[in-house]
Amino acid sequence: MNMKEYISQAENDLLHTYNRYQIVLDRGEGVHLYDIEGKEYLDFVAGIAVFSLGYHYPGYDEALKGQIDKLLHTSNYYYNVPAIDAARKIKAASGMDRVFFTNSGAEAIEGALKAARKYAYLKDGTTDHEIIAMEHSFHGRTFGALSVTGNPRYREAFEPMIGNIRFAKLNDFDSVMEQVSDRTCAILLETVQGEGGLTPATEDFLKKVRALCDERDILLILDEIQCGMGRTGYMYAWQQFGVKPDIMTTAKALGGGVPVGAFAMTKHVGANSLVAGDHGTTYGGNPFACAAISKVLDIYESDHIVEHVREVAPYLESRLNELIDKYDFMIEHRGCGLMQGIKCDRPVGDIINRALENGLILINAGADIIRFVPPLIIEKEHIDQMIEILSRACEET
Ligand SMILES: Cc1ncc(COP(=O)(O)O)c(C=O)c1O
Repeated sequence: MNMKEYISQAENDLLHTYNRYQIVLDRGEGVHLYDIEGKEYLDFVAGIAVFSLGYHYPGYDEALKGQIDKLLHTSNYYYNVPAIDAARKIKAASGMDRVFFTNSGAEAIEGALKAARKYAYLKDGTTDHEIIAMEHSFHGRTFGALSVTGNPRYREAFEPMIGNIRFAKLNDFDSVMEQVSDRTCAILLETVQGEGGLTPATEDFLKKVRALCDERDILLILDEIQCGMGRTGYMYAWQQFGVKPDIMTTAKALGGGVPVGAFAMTKHVGANSLVAGDHGTTYGGNPFACAAISKVLDIYESDHIVEHVREVAPYLESRLNELIDKYDFMIEHRGCGLMQGIKCDRPVGDIINRALENGLILINAGADIIRFVPPLIIEKEHIDQMIEILSRACEET
């Protein structure tokens, strides 16, 4: 079948929950993807911040294949060495104390919400606690995660959500104070908002929220699913400010392409929240997924991936700023590290489609922001190539 035929087959068989780009991808190599007709694309999406190490990073495939030959899955009723290793490495990378493995980001958020509610329940035996989340946030599509996602468009058709969620404005501490009450058990935010427009939480805001949480024994939950794993030039974005969460969620790049996630908490929350029987998953933490996590974290350390982000990210930012100076419809630069965006005064779909035709994979964040979340291993020459193709796409549209 050719590409057109595959696409028409897919339209017939798959549920239409995505407006897909009209290509069928076949394989990847380094920072490039190839469609089934052999066309090469420079990848500045990385499966939406998943492929931090690009495709077929040396040693990664071998680690996975080695684990396939040994054991793919056991139940969580037994220990397995890859999970023990992966948990230790996540703790070392994050400074958190107790790890629960999941299969996705949304599932990590679900676990974090349950841990927060249980923590509050154990304190006073009541079940009417509230959680404060942020407007324009994105935490996933399952009911709990959707309930704390600050975009009414995603929630509306699926109401009612889980109860007792309030929304405040990111970087507006007064708005948090307006929502906080003696029922608040957790405050949840993305350290850098991804889907909502590549907006980092400010140091001042994070520090004030942390102090409020400390004062009232409220749990601070930081969602590092998109902005974590080195993308901002810090293993976890909160480490830049030294504002440590009580619970942290991580996923996407954690498995280097294998679907994994985790929520991790401090020793104190671990000892005062979920216990045996409270939470579980069949696949989360299986040996195959954890071998992937373990290898990814080894590579980050041995090959200085986070340091590399610090080297190339300023170059990406400066080249994006040149584009913004050149094109009137581009309004401003957003984001940090290798999680950047250009806000435009119009929808960016046409430009992204034109870039795709020219061999560059980009994605939007909202209708009017072009998002750049490339593999963390990109070099300056790839940034130059990306700018050249994007400029061409802008001229053509
Ligand atoms: C910040 C953030 N949290 C949670 C999620 C949900 O993760 P998943 O799609 O793996 O369920 C995403 C996905 O884009 C995200 O960006």
